[in-house]
Amino acid sequence: MFEVTNLSPKVGSEVRIDRASFVNGTHAREIERLLVERSALVFREMFLTDEEQRQFASTIGEITLQGEEGVSKISMDPAVSLFADYTRGAFYWHIDGANDPTPAKATMLTAKVLADEGGDTLICNTYAAYDDLPEADKQAIEGVKVRHALEASQRLVNNQPTVAELTRWRTRPSRTHPLAWHHHSGRTSLLLGATALYAEGMSREDGDMLLCRMQEWATQEDYVYRHKWKVGDFLLWDNTGTMHRADWYSLDSDRLMHRTTLEGEEPVR
Ligand code: OGA
Ligand code: MN
Repeated sequence: MFEVTNLSPKVGSEVRIDRASFVNGTHAREIERLLVERSALVFREMFLTDEEQRQFASTIGEITLQGEEGVSKISMDPAVSLFADYTRGAFYWHIDGANDPTPAKATMLTAKVLADEGGDTLICNTYAAYDDLPEADKQAIEGVKVRHALEASQRLVNNQPTVAELTRWRTRPSRTHPLAWHHHSGRTSLLLGATALYAEGMSREDGDMLLCRMQEWATQEDYVYRHKWKVGDFLLWDNTGTMHRADWYSLDSDRLMHRTTLEGEEPVR
């Protein structure tokens, strides 16, 4: 069984597949192809163990070794996740590893515990958003470079940092990327989100407005898939042609996701 149903015209598909074929990679090439075509793939109520999640992940890429052998816990509870501070940054549209030269290829989550309220995951297709831009905007953003830093996303959740906090954020690598990412495939996506600190070579006023305008454009309803979780759901997204965010949920929620990311394969250029 391998059945695909599109969940909206421009983003998101549901895939129905039997567990064994899923885990052993029988359809890995089709899944990889669908992933960049549809931005987000939903596999409902798979109830994967960490081991099965790792097995599947390794059929479509190279697992980033973080957390427990490539599976990390996404939680707001500092007792569960060392990075609970940074998890709050995920409430804002972002790209995983935007501060790296080669952002993650894909991110995947298994839902273990749901929030009582909120906590949907949203993914927007920035390939489609770029394609639909008016020609004048495509020209306006060509060559524009954007500085990405942890500082930008952390300011969204803590806008009066102490000197120690700001210093700590700034020890993390920052990176300049083009706003329009021209991929080897010939397609172009928008690279922006919460990590965008400023547009280089523009006045702060003009640069911030351009980033704001592109973000508003890319996150219009037509480009967004909203996943309403059930326990056991598995959600996979193409991190290079999308932005994503978690919808608000309580900071004392027990919501728990097990996450695996795949190493980036294409440096931004
Ligand atoms: C992530 C992330 C969103 C969510 O794990 O990188 O942004 O809904 N998660 O938990
Ligand atoms: Mn993320």
